[in-house]
Amino acid sequence: MTACLDGGTKAVDERVLDEQLWMDKVRAEMSEARYDHVVGVVEMADALARRFGVNVADARCAAWMHDLAREWPLERLTQIAEEIDLPSGFASIPALLHGPVAAHFAARWFGIDNEDVLNAIRYHTTGRPGMSMLEKILYLADGIERGRVYPGVDHIRTLAESDLDQAVAASFDNTLQYLILTHQPIFPLTVMARNELWERLTQAPQAR
Ligand SMILES: [Fe+2]
Ligand SMILES: [Fe+2]
Repeated sequence: MTACLDGGTKAVDERVLDEQLWMDKVRAEMSEARYDHVVGVVEMADALARRFGVNVADARCAAWMHDLAREWPLERLTQIAEEIDLPSGFASIPALLHGPVAAHFAARWFGIDNEDVLNAIRYHTTGRPGMSMLEKILYLADGIERGRVYPGVDHIRTLAESDLDQAVAASFDNTLQYLILTHQPIFPLTVMARNELWERLTQAPQAR
């Protein structure tokens, strides 16, 4: 049913049909500006997947789905959150709910059952320790797609041309600095993910 299930073997025209369905449905759930962001994330996730040897169909699928619930009212998100399997701690920060809710609806609406794709969607705002390549690619693509403008984004884009872990680690630092400066809550999984990456990156190169 979906490219996420067998992105490597499905005929190209079948994958195009899947994507057309996702585009139409996702577009109906959000503003034009948000949809433009999603298209930018799809393009960036596609480029990063090719660059770092990850399944391109899975990356595009996760990118299409990731913000499908981003503009839903908080009441709707919290109601759904009470009915689904929410990762620990997510309920305490409303801005994080749209990830797990989007993963739930990616499965329900489109039949996506690839756990790696669903986890990439679920954790795209927070990251987490032990992220897969696909999870890192969606997290990074979300932060550096063509429409993103913030201090430090060009540095992260430059790192993303050659080193996925360095780029993701720099993106975590940038996000955490912003959250501190704006007095926003910091999610523990993000700190753990950031610490894990830098611990690895600051070890001797042969250990990486
Ligand atoms: Fe998001
Ligand atoms: Fe996004």
